[in-house]
Amino acid sequence: MRTVNQHETPLFTGLVRHAERNPIQFHIPGHKKGAGMAPEFRAYIGERALAIDLINIAPLDDLHNPHGIIREAQALAAEAFGADHSFFSVQGTSGAIIAMIMTVCGPGDKILVPRNVHKSVLTGIVLSGALPIFMNPDLDYELGIAHGVSLEAVRHALDQHPDAKGVLVINPTYYGVAADLKGIVELAHSRGVPVLVDEAHGVHLCFHDELPLSAMQAGADMAATSVHKLGGSLTQTSILNVREGFINPGRVQAILSMLTTTSTSYLLLASLDVARKQLATRGRELIDRAVRLAERARREIAEIPGLYCLGPDVVGQSSSRFDLDPTKLCINVKELGVTGVEVEAILREEFNIEVELSDLYNILCIISLGDTAEDVDALVAALGEISRRFYRQRPANVVKVKVPVTPILAMHPRTAFYAETEVVPIREAEGRVIAESIMVYPPGIPILLPGEIVAEENLDYLEECIQAGLPVQGTEDPEIRMVKVVKDAHR
Ligand SMILES: Cc1ncc(COP(=O)(O)O)c(C=O)c1O
Repeated sequence: MRTVNQHETPLFTGLVRHAERNPIQFHIPGHKKGAGMAPEFRAYIGERALAIDLINIAPLDDLHNPHGIIREAQALAAEAFGADHSFFSVQGTSGAIIAMIMTVCGPGDKILVPRNVHKSVLTGIVLSGALPIFMNPDLDYELGIAHGVSLEAVRHALDQHPDAKGVLVINPTYYGVAADLKGIVELAHSRGVPVLVDEAHGVHLCFHDELPLSAMQAGADMAATSVHKLGGSLTQTSILNVREGFINPGRVQAILSMLTTTSTSYLLLASLDVARKQLATRGRELIDRAVRLAERARREIAEIPGLYCLGPDVVGQSSSRFDLDPTKLCINVKELGVTGVEVEAILREEFNIEVELSDLYNILCIISLGDTAEDVDALVAALGEISRRFYRQRPANVVKVKVPVTPILAMHPRTAFYAETEVVPIREAEGRVIAESIMVYPPGIPILLPGEIVAEENLDYLEECIQAGLPVQGTEDPEIRMVKVVKDAHR
């Protein structure tokens, strides 16, 4: 293969060159460079974008069996992220997470996972037939959020389950808190167990030395990384980074191929190629600007009466609060006596500001490569106005976060998922094996997952959460009055 460097974009450049030749296309997509598309959409997104909305014809390589420009682009990504292999995903980090789990686990194999996993982890567990062993995340009772898992929690789980086929951790968390990932990797490797990282919120880490270690820098074996979230590529695009040793890259490729559409979007793939170039060549400078903006925002928010912004003071409190990505602004509003959900609505309706997420006590704002000083000024000014309206006008909210008791797993989640089920009133589910999930936010820890036995304590906890006004979700019945249980399976 010819030598390429990080300033090159083999996939994007190859695609543009192909489009410029303006070939007569007797292949899909049937909109044929936009000509067959509804004119209002064509006019809005532009003919140039449509001209490169192509698929895997011979000159453009194939994500399922890369040997040309996609292979070159993936090799450059591997070099940039410090991986042995990088695989592009057009199925988001969700698809990459499912692939990681299916790579290390077959039916019946144990995998250690935090209890507060993203739903894609559960999908990976159901599809692979793995047996999840849950580790409790570190709960922050001040903010009402969950952080990562501690080194001690991983050690305990490995002691109890030395036959585990993998350890999966979320690093950093949505709120930017990183655990001692290097410590976790060293520990797991000393027991012969690979480490898989849900790095949905960490694509930028390895491009700036003031940020927590990335999964690859920490020596992890696989990392599912959302380039689209914080790295500047189009929505849906992620990367699966792999280190050789414990993991067979050929198997990763085969599994990704099983999970991926055969009509991969070249617009999406090309955006990964240029995002990698930008991160590799200008990442430090761009991320530095984001870090400085976020630090200023954090300082100014700290001056606003009734607000607290999660900051470096959290670092060092435990091995699950080991480091912090300062570009995440988790703003706690409990002292104002309003919920984060209300603040989100006020920001939207009165200030035309959209936040990343909100819960009962916090809003989360992300500062990334695209933000400006004016954006931050607008946020700080709006928060100042909201504080003036509510601070000391209402009693402060008290954080009510409890840890649900982890139920007994009676059946593999996969078995419960595929079992014959019936729907029963929730109180009658006691002693039955549940076939769906019930989660509560905050702190985002599932109360029940498929295959678990519903105990009275789980139902009491659920009732308390509903009465406290916490958002409970997951069941097919949005009112959570009825629940799906496995037919004929009782305690
Ligand atoms: C912790 C975590 N993991 C995985 C994902 C899935 O990422 P994607 O939306 O790229 O599929 C998310 C999405 O928000 C997430 O927050």
